[in-house]
Amino acid sequence: MAAIPFSLIPPLIFFTFTTITFTASPKRVVIELIHRDSIHSPFHNHKQSLSNKAQQAINTSFARLAYLQSKTRSSSSSTSEEEEDYQADVFPSIDSSLFYLNFSIGRPPIPQFTVMDTGSSLLWIQCQPCINCFKQFGPIFNPAKSSTFNNVSCLSPYCRFSPGTRNKSCDKANSYSKCMYNQTYVHGPSSSGVLATDEIVFKTSDEGTTTVPEVIFGCGHDNGKLNDRQLSGVFGLGLGHLSLVSQLGRSFSYCIGNLYDPFYHHNKLVLGYGARIEGDSTPLEVINGRYYVTLKSISVGEKQLDLDVNIFKRRTWSNDGVIIDTGSPATWLIKEGFEALRDEVQSLLDMWLNRYWYSSWSLCYEGSAREDLVGFPVVRFEFEDGAELVLDRESLFLQAWPNVFCMAVFPSFVNGDAYTRLSLIGMMAQQNYNVAYDIDGRKLSFERIDCALLDD
Ligand SMILES: *[C@@H]1O[C@H](CO)[C@@H](O)[C@H](O)[C@H]1NC(C)=O
Ligand SMILES: *[C@@H]1O[C@H](CO)[C@@H](O)[C@H](O)[C@H]1NC(C)=O
Ligand SMILES: *[C@@H]1O[C@H](CO)[C@@H](O)[C@H](O)[C@H]1NC(C)=O
Ligand SMILES: *[C@@H]1O[C@H](CO)[C@@H](O)[C@H](O)[C@H]1NC(C)=O
Repeated sequence: MAAIPFSLIPPLIFFTFTTITFTASPKRVVIELIHRDSIHSPFHNHKQSLSNKAQQAINTSFARLAYLQSKTRSSSSSTSEEEEDYQADVFPSIDSSLFYLNFSIGRPPIPQFTVMDTGSSLLWIQCQPCINCFKQFGPIFNPAKSSTFNNVSCLSPYCRFSPGTRNKSCDKANSYSKCMYNQTYVHGPSSSGVLATDEIVFKTSDEGTTTVPEVIFGCGHDNGKLNDRQLSGVFGLGLGHLSLVSQLGRSFSYCIGNLYDPFYHHNKLVLGYGARIEGDSTPLEVINGRYYVTLKSISVGEKQLDLDVNIFKRRTWSNDGVIIDTGSPATWLIKEGFEALRDEVQSLLDMWLNRYWYSSWSLCYEGSAREDLVGFPVVRFEFEDGAELVLDRESLFLQAWPNVFCMAVFPSFVNGDAYTRLSLIGMMAQQNYNVAYDIDGRKLSFERIDCALLDD
């Protein structure tokens, strides 16, 4: 969600966790988000063609939409802001995960390469001794060799939020009794072990480091089997109590540059009060760990599309509204929104280019989005209270084949769900923006910026 140049940050920040509300002082953690296809990613395949990447992006987008549709359907009665910590999620897979995080843990620090997952809240890594561990880059963390490692007691307030176990076996007479966890996923293996704390070290852009002491994480001794990828664990960034987002102050921001430039290395995530909250804001509603915004209108150039403002509203039922998402590259719009946008784009392009393919759910032309769309008007997504996302041609179109490009906006009904009213703003639409989430202030801000400028 998600390579490591970043900001000038004090090399060390000190704070301790005293209460469950984490009321401690200066906390700004800047983490490089490694895109799956970037040259800094171990999954980078230099032979992968642009069109193969585009296909993968479309596959990822479909998988993500299907996942969110099933989630929103199954949680209709719940209005709680936080995803329950123990609620299962899909194991983040290579196909469905865009961003990875590299950091080190313990003293001496041991590198960890993890997948970012906004659908779960626990950070866990594989730990020795292993009952079951899968292949990973570098050695598996050995807590016995870290001088800063501590077990979390089952009497600790944090233990109440430990996923998957009720810790019934807690020996209340023995405060050294450990807190167990079992993080399960809808698909894929589960990870179980003990809840622990240790210091985490993130690299910063000036080649320095930021150290966060006493981070709560899962030390996984039994992690099932994974054959197809090499990971040390999962970096859960949901809003549950044990997530680093909660540990660092319930605000965060990310800045994503060009998703299809493998050399781009300024994508970053900032956790904590130092999150950059700039630009126009729009009300944010957090429901079951998903982020809802109110889209008011869409324009192409100077022309505002003729849309009923109510089509994007979230009503009492759950399978509607507009989610801003980090998992789907493409944007998914409710049918009426998609069709209005498609018709307008088509009326502008039909004069100049040959339509390659036309279906009820896509619009593709022969040509190169980069070369043939110079001067194409920007598309604006306008949100409540005036915040907006401006999509230039690289945020709106995807080069699907060397000589065919398609609009990277699709209708959300295609996933076999004819009645869905859900829309999803994807990552391509958020390219070249710093997007800031102020959870307690219930605000989302968009600032158009070159992420490289945030490095210092
Ligand atoms: C995308 O999904 C289709 C259908 O499942 C599959 O055949 C294709 O190989 C996938 N492409 C990529 C690049 O993952
Ligand atoms: C993660 O960072 C460490 C330390 O900088 C580095 O040695 C390691 O190669 C990186 N791992 C991956 C998979 O990029
Ligand atoms: C954590 O628990 C393990 C297993 O009981 C124990 O061997 C280890 O010494 C404990 N570590 C610390 C730092 O207390
Ligand atoms: C974790 O939970 C899963 C699903 O309930 C179960 O299959 C697995 O055995 C559990 N693991 C442990 C170590 O309790």
